Amino acid sequence: MLDVIDSRYFYLHNGVVSYLFDLLPNQQLEHLYYGADLGNLDRDDLSYISLHINKASGTVKFSKEIKNFSLADRMQEYPTYGTSDFREGAVSLETGETYLYPDFKYDHFKIEKGKKREMAQPASYGNGSETITIYLKDVERQLELELSYSIFENLTAIVRKAKIINHGQQEIKVKNLQSGVLDLPNSDYNFLQLSGAWVKERHITTRPLTQGITKIESLRGASSHQENPFIALVDKNVTNDTGTIYASNLIYSGNFVSQVEVDEWGQSRLMTGINPATFCWKLAPNEEFCTPESVLFYTSHGFNGLMRQTHTFAKNHVIDQKWQKQERPIVINNWEATYFDFDEKKLMKLATQAKELGIECFVLDDGWFGKRDSDNSSLGNWTVDTRKFPQGLAHFSGQVHRLKMKFGLWFEPEMVSPDTELYQEHPDWIVRHPYSRYSVGRRQYVLDFANPEVVENIYEQMATVIKEAKVDYIKWDMNRNITEAYSPYLHSLNHPQGEFFHRYIQGVYQLYAKLLTTFPNLLIEGCASGGGRFDLGILFYSPQIWPSDDSDAAERLDIMSGTLLAYPLSTFSNHVSAVPNDQVKRVTNLKFRQEVACFGPLGYELDLNKLSTTEKEEIKEWIKWYKKNRNLLVNGIFDQLLKFDPAQNVYAWSVSNSNKQIIGFYRKFARPNESLDQYFPLKHLNSRKQYQINGRQTVAGRVLQKYGLREPYQFNASNPDTAQVSGDFQSYLYQIKAIDRKI
Ligand code: GLA
Repeated sequence: MLDVIDSRYFYLHNGVVSYLFDLLPNQQLEHLYYGADLGNLDRDDLSYISLHINKASGTVKFSKEIKNFSLADRMQEYPTYGTSDFREGAVSLETGETYLYPDFKYDHFKIEKGKKREMAQPASYGNGSETITIYLKDVERQLELELSYSIFENLTAIVRKAKIINHGQQEIKVKNLQSGVLDLPNSDYNFLQLSGAWVKERHITTRPLTQGITKIESLRGASSHQENPFIALVDKNVTNDTGTIYASNLIYSGNFVSQVEVDEWGQSRLMTGINPATFCWKLAPNEEFCTPESVLFYTSHGFNGLMRQTHTFAKNHVIDQKWQKQERPIVINNWEATYFDFDEKKLMKLATQAKELGIECFVLDDGWFGKRDSDNSSLGNWTVDTRKFPQGLAHFSGQVHRLKMKFGLWFEPEMVSPDTELYQEHPDWIVRHPYSRYSVGRRQYVLDFANPEVVENIYEQMATVIKEAKVDYIKWDMNRNITEAYSPYLHSLNHPQGEFFHRYIQGVYQLYAKLLTTFPNLLIEGCASGGGRFDLGILFYSPQIWPSDDSDAAERLDIMSGTLLAYPLSTFSNHVSAVPNDQVKRVTNLKFRQEVACFGPLGYELDLNKLSTTEKEEIKEWIKWYKKNRNLLVNGIFDQLLKFDPAQNVYAWSVSNSNKQIIGFYRKFARPNESLDQYFPLKHLNSRKQYQINGRQTVAGRVLQKYGLREPYQFNASNPDTAQVSGDFQSYLYQIKAIDRKI
């Protein structure tokens, strides 16, 4: 998988992808190729690929020996701005008042097999992976740069990160150190981003690349509702199954930038990493700084090909693999059922009803601690409210456990309310600038998680509750962005405030790591006012995330379609909620809501006791069916059958394993006389097997593969006589199962 040829060419390949770079005359690293597998390469192939035709006219004298050379038009692995290359660089450093132009030259390399899963930092892992680290040195400034690249079996993903070490006597400031760079020779792509807002996260948005910088970023202290670190460069003629896509993501949850710069020759430079706008790291002599990991993906098989890569990578190399084997419990969450208005009796009624319907876990959301009757109180005081639970939380959870249900609990660990002892005793534990003006969000302050003492305090409080109440599941929320970023703790250590955002998110990871080390079986669901921190950093610890505070099934069609480009089905918490829906006041039928929510981990978030007997029966039957198909719906291979369109009305999703497929059709609005007579050639079938459709009709695998599955006539709006489901917000599921008969 990793070949080093003539100590000059570095070649990562695995039968599905090739990534090639070499040394430039000035001993920097030149990028040569990332794309479809090129197989074994010999010296002739390599010299053919590395032939460079100058585009830049000006040349620079780099040294006595290298006179006619310029970096201006070179594809590079880790470029530095200002040394004949005027595109943005991946690294910028300062000492005192001086801007440095580092000159990192190749020194040596190291190859390692396998990558362990270590809890301290979110990062990729995997036994079958190989990593090459290239060591580069700037001798004059006594700096070392380590660039590492990992490749995984059967995947096109290349994981990159950078580390800088100060071997000199002088303190330096790292102003920018990107995680990943990908220079491409062309720019004929659309830039795809997952954009949105609170209750409207990760909608697919595209725009053509053009000369200059196209970028998305977060400056909020979290990866954010507005943008996601995932971006893709998409062939303009892409379909679901054809067309080239290059994509990148970060295994990181803090302020990021993901951008592509197109130069005057139409070459593209993708860069992704910590956002330099809010970053400045002090590197004293002998200290080092390492970036989070970035992941590059390549496919020539369109959006479904991309999802095969992003999903497999997240499931097998980021998320703890044990969650592929352990079943995700079907939850009832009391938030939209009760909000803050509950006591033990009311909740027990909900839990008992949930149990009767087959639900497996009761999640007690906000409002159980301190004196929290609204969102303006008690965060940071993680002791039970005895007005609501007179016999304590352990008593309540004991009752839930006696129903043979798991017990889940909501925390917002990173926050404190002004009315708590924690805040009053430690006013210096919050993020606040010494200036008198400051902003407050949701009437709460952000704790200074850059300070290990703060993290320890919250850990102790949480661990006590988890132990006492035998908590199986946590919903970890985070409900405000960071304003006037300033850490009193960093100030006391004389560290630049530019370290704050990164140290804050390190503190979050540290708390995750501590909790999961003490309670390894805890299932932690991520959340940040819905999907404000849906990223690979959080998924390293939390196998699933609440994707949005918008629980309306029709809205979720778009949220899920966007999110699925980067993250697998297993990462969703999909809750069936009440109608009219609380966010958009839309009324949809229960069948539609359940059939959307079943793609991924299923849950319910409504007052079940208010439902009619028929509705309860429908849920009960649905849960029985879901349990039989859960493994497929959570861990199966996902495909989009209809191409994304910003004005999409009909959605078609499929999830497959080796002998079964479930295909969901969803239509938002009924339209008169609309032809739905489309055929969808199905993948992942065995052409030699027979398949049964919805337990009735039998069809040969090869017919379904080639002729395709017919769009459900059941909601054929063109003919009201044959339509079995009509009206807005309708869905239809096909279940296709291999039967034993061979042909
Ligand atoms: C956030 C979450 C919700 C719920 C509330 C509780 O908004 O996203 O799901 O937990 O907080 O306050």
